[in-house]
Amino acid sequence: MTAQAPTPAPSRFPAGRLAFPHRDLTAIARLERHEILFLLDEARQWVDWNRRAGRHSELLAGLTIINAFFENSTRTLLSFEIAGKRLGADVVNMHAAQSSVKKGETLIDTAITLNAMRADAIVIRHGSSGATQLIADKVDCPVLNAGDGSHEHPTQALLDALALLEALGREDLTGLAVTICGDVLHSRVARSNLLCLQALGATVRLCAPPALMPAGVEAMGAQVFHDFGAALAGADVVMMLRLQQERMSGQFIPSAREYHQLYGLTRQRLALAAPDALVMHPGPMNRGVEIDSEVADLLDRSIITRQVEMGVAVRMACLDVLTRTRRGVEGWA
Ligand code: NCD
Repeated sequence: MTAQAPTPAPSRFPAGRLAFPHRDLTAIARLERHEILFLLDEARQWVDWNRRAGRHSELLAGLTIINAFFENSTRTLLSFEIAGKRLGADVVNMHAAQSSVKKGETLIDTAITLNAMRADAIVIRHGSSGATQLIADKVDCPVLNAGDGSHEHPTQALLDALALLEALGREDLTGLAVTICGDVLHSRVARSNLLCLQALGATVRLCAPPALMPAGVEAMGAQVFHDFGAALAGADVVMMLRLQQERMSGQFIPSAREYHQLYGLTRQRLALAAPDALVMHPGPMNRGVEIDSEVADLLDRSIITRQVEMGVAVRMACLDVLTRTRRGVEGWA
């Protein structure tokens, strides 16, 4: 049986102009607080719907969505694919390893090729910061950033925010202290989360060894720590990040064992945070390096699988909202 798609909730956002006036979703940095809240509200409708049987809608029937992934992915690619299919779109995945990129085609030529196939939305993951915007500037359809280098990963930040709001039963994150620890330097997740969490009212503490902390994050409003214990003191949420070896040229840490000793989230360390502090990780996890299994699997504290679940709802909302203009949805056309 096909479940009926939820009717869009009446928007509580700016009267007289589009609640989401952007064609693309390339960076949280380009969004205003009310636009983030709008996408999260839209995503919330799909959370319950996704838990029901027969979760198939024809909302995007007849549209073609291309997932162009130039970097490996499990969660992001799968959830974009599931999101598009649940909404009835034709979803095509392009893996760079099997594409003409390996034959020397430039990113721009690939973009022009995808555009010529008249995609209705293109989802891109690429190893270079700014690649998504470069493609967005060359094509005629909405472009969604599924992670570009160490720049941004906007849908990850949105799903992390939704997972937190749902877990805490809150409307925003005012007054919450969130500690993000790991390879902040190479992490697009950290950057997007810093912007998104702050926009929703949280205080963000970034913690990393000096070599893995980018310059200038204080100017973006972050509190910077190199001592994990100090960063954890009284934190309401602890988000752990993987060491992004694939983006490191040279040696950034002495060894995984020493890294774990200083920056691994163990049960003892978690006790330094607030008593009910929630544990998050965008995945993929390196158990025993940045996070211990007994912490990652804590049933009452870890919301790691909830993050994955929210990912599908958030991506459904983004695909829906960004294709409204071309679908001629009333008020958006
Ligand atoms: C992250 C990414 O690709 O940026 N993963 C994800 O999308 N869930 C984080 C990572 O790779 O460490």
